[in-house]
Amino acid sequence: MGSLFHLEVGGRTLALAHAERVHFDGANAPLYEAVASHVRSSDRVLDLGCGHGALGPVASAARARHVTFSDVHAPSVTAALTNAARNGLGPCNGVVGDWLEPLRGERFDVVLFNPPQTGGPAGLEARQPDRFGGEDGALHFVRLAAQLPLVLRRPGGRLVRMRLSRATPRAVDRALAAADGVIHSVGA
Ligand SMILES: C[S@@+](CC[C@H](N)C(=O)[O-])C[C@H]1O[C@@H](n2cnc3c(N)ncnc32)[C@H](O)[C@@H]1O
Repeated sequence: MGSLFHLEVGGRTLALAHAERVHFDGANAPLYEAVASHVRSSDRVLDLGCGHGALGPVASAARARHVTFSDVHAPSVTAALTNAARNGLGPCNGVVGDWLEPLRGERFDVVLFNPPQTGGPAGLEARQPDRFGGEDGALHFVRLAAQLPLVLRRPGGRLVRMRLSRATPRAVDRALAAADGVIHSVGA
């Protein structure tokens, strides 16, 4: 386990550990409060690509009914569940696999989505798609734009995506324009 970082959300202080390969950037802390504002107490939430699990615990601290943590890296899912337990958060489970593949038709009220969205050096981004968002940062948004609405409960399901300044917003926006879902962007 790495060092703990602390996040204030909904009047609570969450103590969260970094997972291997994913690091918390304190500059993004205000975004997490914004994410919490999208969560209602009756919501079933998917933290898609959970990494160290900050988004899911934030949703849980905002009193989500249930949180599912998913990631392609099993240690990240384990770290997310450990973080949830460390903070005494509410009901949750974890699944491992490529984006929506392990969810098998499940639907959620809220999907939290902060995929790798850093453009990678030519060649490297193709070899490590789990760390980069293709050449322009939009790879995962493009891949998932049509499928994401399918995991949202109708009516009322919301996709909350974190938009980081490193991303290429126009490319990502173009990818998501095709998505027939309710999309809220939090961030730059
Ligand atoms: C930028 S990190 C976001 C971590 C966390 N959700 C947050 O907001 O701090 C992106 C996460 O997506 C995961 N990921 C990358 N490719 C994936 C894939 N094909 N399927 C599922 N998760 C993936 C990575 O392992 C990583 O944990």
